[in-house]
Amino acid sequence: MPLTIVVGAQWGDEGKGKIVDLLAADMRVVARYAGGPNAGHTVVVDDRTLVLHMIPSGVLHPDVTCVIGAGTVVDLEALLTEIAAVEALGIAVRQRLVVSAAAHIILPYHRVLEREGDLARLGTTGRGIGQAYRDKAARTGIRAGLLTEPALLGAAVRENVARLHRQAPTLPDDAPELDVARILAHLEDARRSVAPLVGDATGIVLSALERGDRVLAEGAQGTLLDIDHGTYPYVTSSNASIGGVCTGLGVPPKAIGAVLGVVKAYTTRVGEGPFPTELTGEMGNLLRDSGNEYGAVTGRPRRCGWYDAVAARYGVRINGLDALALTKLDVLDGLEKIDICTAYKCGSRTLNDFPSDLAQLAACTPVYESMPGWKAPTKGCRRYEDLPEAARKYIARLEEISGVRAGIVSTGSERDDTILRKELLRPYGLG
Ligand code: GDP
Ligand code: IMO
Ligand code: MG
Repeated sequence: MPLTIVVGAQWGDEGKGKIVDLLAADMRVVARYAGGPNAGHTVVVDDRTLVLHMIPSGVLHPDVTCVIGAGTVVDLEALLTEIAAVEALGIAVRQRLVVSAAAHIILPYHRVLEREGDLARLGTTGRGIGQAYRDKAARTGIRAGLLTEPALLGAAVRENVARLHRQAPTLPDDAPELDVARILAHLEDARRSVAPLVGDATGIVLSALERGDRVLAEGAQGTLLDIDHGTYPYVTSSNASIGGVCTGLGVPPKAIGAVLGVVKAYTTRVGEGPFPTELTGEMGNLLRDSGNEYGAVTGRPRRCGWYDAVAARYGVRINGLDALALTKLDVLDGLEKIDICTAYKCGSRTLNDFPSDLAQLAACTPVYESMPGWKAPTKGCRRYEDLPEAARKYIARLEEISGVRAGIVSTGSERDDTILRKELLRPYGLG
């Protein structure tokens, strides 16, 4: 089972970074297939915390080749800052990092257009993601392959800026982000530094799979932020769910071995858009504080709510999940009772399936069942049998109503604060 996929099955920030880092110990290649520096993937090892935005979360394992695939959008400066942060930990990365020549690059005008334009109302991360993907879809984007061709790169930037002057009259003509000379001067250092990393990412992934090497595809964002299958328009601009793996890496579906969906033991969302189980009062604040639910990219407080099994079941179906990686169980440690949303009420109707219509979703209220809390510490617990009985019952109920077993249970942010249920993972060649 050479291609393992780790995908976010909620609205992002499920703990994908931690799970990818953990599984990467057995991988030869870890590849990001979609998104860009809107992602913030946290990896914690021996009290060191690394938040990765562009570099795949397998980077702490020195034998892992890190691939940034064709489906991503790359911010060169963010990438260089991150390379420096990893190198500062004494970990060499440049020799084993490949940026797909087909990945699109984010330019300064993408960021400013996002800030000034109609995307901001969605509560985006402000990283220029939507504008870069807009250029990609319009076939006016600039791909990383051009970083090795400075003359062509200069011409492409000039052409794009000229078009923006014609099309974006809301920006003043002298906006620094539209000053070609300035953009190119600024880009030059980054271009020189990133150009040697540009390569045939798809070829590397396919060859690894053909050799039988283990490859892990690392999701960014989450299923409900997928541009086609999420809560459009309150989504990101790429296919965060499983479809993005094949398009974003150039791998055939038949290569897929195991699909692991990361879910929190509750639910969070950053930015705008419907969120049926959101808790706006004291309980929401409690979850935010206990779970340290502040965005890893923007620092924004995350909206918090109970576990939404309707949304989770959707994630299971869309991605064909083989198992869950259930994270942040420890955040619920102190609670007297814990609610689980099992269905939605929409007017007089009860919905068991996640509605595809946004207005309908916005009108839904959760149907809850309650479970007793365990009121005992699970933080750092590493053996399933050591969990309090009420915690095991909670997990069993989540598995039952989500439709898939939890092969991994995470009880803390550290790599080793993890329960691997080997009997559930073994059929998929994991653990
Ligand atoms: P990602 O975007 O899916 O990689 O998730 P983020 O890194 O944005 O957010 C997850 C946060 O939860 C990070 O701060 C992690 O260090 C932390 N985390 C991951 N798993 C656990 C866990 O089981 N318990 C606790 N308390 N924190 C966790
Ligand atoms: P990771 O990989 C959580 C959200 C933004 C906004 C919407 C669109 O860390 O899980 P964008 O900047 O992509 O145009 O913003 O999507 N968003 C995320 N929320 N985790 C993420 O990534 C996210 N990436 C984007 O908050 O609501
Ligand atoms: Mg994140």
